[in-house]
Amino acid sequence: MYMEEINLHDKAFVPYLTEVEIQNAICDIATQINAAYEGKEVLFLSVLNGAFMFTSDLMKKITLPCEISFIKVSSYLGTESTGRVDELIGLNTSVSGKHVIIIEDIVDTGITIDKVIKLLEMQNPATIEVCATLFKKVAYQGQHPPRYFGFEIPNKFVVGYGLDYDQLGRNLPAIYQVKN
Ligand code: IMP
Repeated sequence: MYMEEINLHDKAFVPYLTEVEIQNAICDIATQINAAYEGKEVLFLSVLNGAFMFTSDLMKKITLPCEISFIKVSSYLGTESTGRVDELIGLNTSVSGKHVIIIEDIVDTGITIDKVIKLLEMQNPATIEVCATLFKKVAYQGQHPPRYFGFEIPNKFVVGYGLDYDQLGRNLPAIYQVKN
């Protein structure tokens, strides 16, 4: 099993959430979503890279008719008047009139999700909700807190289950917290 202390780059991490705890939380989230959207079709938008593992496990438990698409949010320098401009990459379907659920690995400050929602709202979806494995509520400053999440966690850095520390650790099936 992977539940020993691990080292990634220059940091040590200690076991925080087990595979079983994560999978149980995903079952709970899927039950909530299946009930809340009964009779509706849903468009799931998974925010890469971090949400890939959560998306895969969650989707296997969703019984609703649904589309799944993968997106990234990037920021580039526009003209002097516009400053930095955000854009969504990879959205290959219209969101107009659809029930959208955004899937994230973790909602921390909420800045990423707020950007994604601002861009999606231009296409007039019917509804938008956010679903995340983890929610750092103490660090949250956004406008769209996750409607569905697995665990509320303290403001400490975590890795595993899709989350990385400088690109390492995404493959771990459990979640680890930085040691200090
Ligand atoms: P936010 O915009 O501050 O909500 O941050 C969102 C993104 O930052 C997440 O999708 C993660 O990719 C990354 N992130 C935030 N906290 C952590 C963490 O503790 N470990 C790994 N990545 C994190």
